[in-house]
Order: sequence, then C-alpha cells, then structure tokens
Amino acid sequence: MDEKLHFADFAGELLDWYAHAARELPWRVGPTERAEGVKPDPYRVWMAEIMLQQTTVPHATRYFHAFTQRWPRVEDLAAADDADVMGAWAGLGYYARARNLLKCARQVAAAGSWPDTVEGLRALPGIGPYTAGAIAALAFGRRAAAVDGNVDRVFARLMALKGEWKLEKARLKNVVEELVPEDRPAEFAEGLMDLGATICTPKSPNCLLCPVKAYCLGRAEGTPERYPIKPKKTPKPHRVGHVYVLRGAERTVLTETRPERGLLGGMMGLPTSDWSDTLAPPDFPQPLAWQEIGEVRHVFTHFSLTLNVWRADMPNEKTTTPFETAIDHLPSVFAKALKLSL
Ligand code: ADE
Repeated sequence: MDEKLHFADFAGELLDWYAHAARELPWRVGPTERAEGVKPDPYRVWMAEIMLQQTTVPHATRYFHAFTQRWPRVEDLAAADDADVMGAWAGLGYYARARNLLKCARQVAAAGSWPDTVEGLRALPGIGPYTAGAIAALAFGRRAAAVDGNVDRVFARLMALKGEWKLEKARLKNVVEELVPEDRPAEFAEGLMDLGATICTPKSPNCLLCPVKAYCLGRAEGTPERYPIKPKKTPKPHRVGHVYVLRGAERTVLTETRPERGLLGGMMGLPTSDWSDTLAPPDFPQPLAWQEIGEVRHVFTHFSLTLNVWRADMPNEKTTTPFETAIDHLPSVFAKALKLSL
C-alpha cells in the first residue's frame, strides 16, 4: 500500500483538531500562542519530557511545578546540590533519570546554550531518540518525530499492524517521520500526544470523536482496541528481603545514602538486607529489640520486591533524619515502610 496516499491529509486533520482540542499543560505553549509567535523555553520542554518518561501527566505535573519554581533556569539546576535534586525527585521513580537530569543541566549550562538539533540533543545525558525528537520539534521547531508508546499505539491501530511488533514499530516510525509537516512539527507532535492521551486511549478508544478516524484501518476492521499486538511479556522475577526502620529520639529515623551505582542509586534509603529469590534471616543493623510489623511491595522495571518491615526504637538517642524529611526524600518503597512504622 502507498502509505502517503493512504494518509493523504492526515496531518491537516490532526492539526485542525489540535487547534481547538489541545490540552493545557504547564510546560506547553498552546496552539494559539504558538501561532502568535510565542516560543517555548527549551529548559521547561526538556524538564517535562524527562519527567514524563515512565510517569503520567497528573503525577509529573506536581514535580514539574516544584522543580521549575525552585530552579527556574538550567543554570540554577546546574548549580544545585546533588542531594537536593535527588530528594526533590523522590517519588517520581526511575532515579537514573534524576542523575542524568543533573548531568545534562550541568553540560548545557557549561556550554552556554541548548543544542537545537536531534543529533545534538541525542548526545546529552538522559536523552534518547524519542526525547531528542520531542525536544527538537517542541522547543526548536525542527521537523522531527516524537514516537513513544502512545504514538506506537495510535499508529498500530491506524495501520492495523499485525506483524512482529518489533518490525512493525520500526515501520510505523518511518511512516510518522514522513508525515511530520515542515511548517508545524511541534503541533503535529503535540497533537499526536493528545490524541493518544484523550481519544486513542489504551482500553476503550473514543473513535466517534477521533479527527483521523477516516484513515483508521483498525476502526474499519471493527476492533481497533486489539492493536497493538505485542508479544506476551515474560513475568518479572520476584525478590524478597528485609528493611529496617530504626527510630530514634525526637521523631528521627536512621537513613543512609544509597551507593551511586545500582538501583535507587544516590537516593536516600533505609537500611535493608540483600534482596534475593529466597528469604534469608534478618541481619539487623544494630542489636536491638526488633519487631516485625508487616511488609511492603514494590514493582521495579526488572523485578518485583517484597520487603518484611522491621522496627526498633532507640528512645534516648537521635538518629539521622526527621520522619517528615525522610518521608519526603525516600523513594516510594522506603517511604511505604517508614509510614507503616509510624
Ligand atoms: N508525553 C510525553 N511528552 C509529553 C508532553 N510534552 N506533553 C504531554 N504528554 C507528553
């Protein structure tokens, strides 16, 4: 099939729809302002893209406001203390993103400006092909495509892709790249994001409202929601271990900084045992009257985890960190353990 012919005025339909249906988002320069010549701040575009990798818009929004208020410019972030940035990231997950965020800010601040091409952006820490395409299009008006899982889903449906998903994804990416209009790449990318988020949703797409339904082979077949057809995921391995909540005087808890390398690297943590397939006896950090108070579960990228939570009190001695600070700065799995103990 000639893909160009099939998608005759796809971009035009999408852009017309986006002009009135665009979501208002704090990092976005909307279609009206864009038409008036308002240019987005690359720092804010970049910050949003990094946060939105693996995080939903509602969850990322709060963090976006907090970060951009505290560090309004890339130079401010570049000058921040690592621990402050890691602490502010706590709860967003995938902490390598926060380490790369800082590295990237420092590189850009040292260079004095942002690169404005896909290749230049791609060379920065934490910026992969999707993010480079998104920033190049959104912040710099480059003719670049931003193809993430949402755009994959939209085009798997439009094209009713039935082949091996890996190959189909590569094919679909070429099609999207061809469709990006010369004059409005940013609106095209944002329009696709909004289409995926509000209409072509994973479970029950709202095809009646879809501005490009005329192009959709999945809809023509009657069951667009069956796409994308992905290979079955192998279940994640499960790991188990212990986590220790040592509470001291004046509402403090013993925390540590996790090693730079490895899971949750550089973040604040609670002492834990090793995590493995089988549960070993607890190796308490200090000989005290430890009590088992429950368990917490968490799902990471490559495994799921259950930790038995142990608590002990040292009523006469302060430990390292006030409860409130710890709850704010600990990654979710540890914050859950601490909350369980309070
Ligand atoms: N998902 C990824 N990037 C996004 C953005 N800039 N706006 C909304 N959703 C997104």
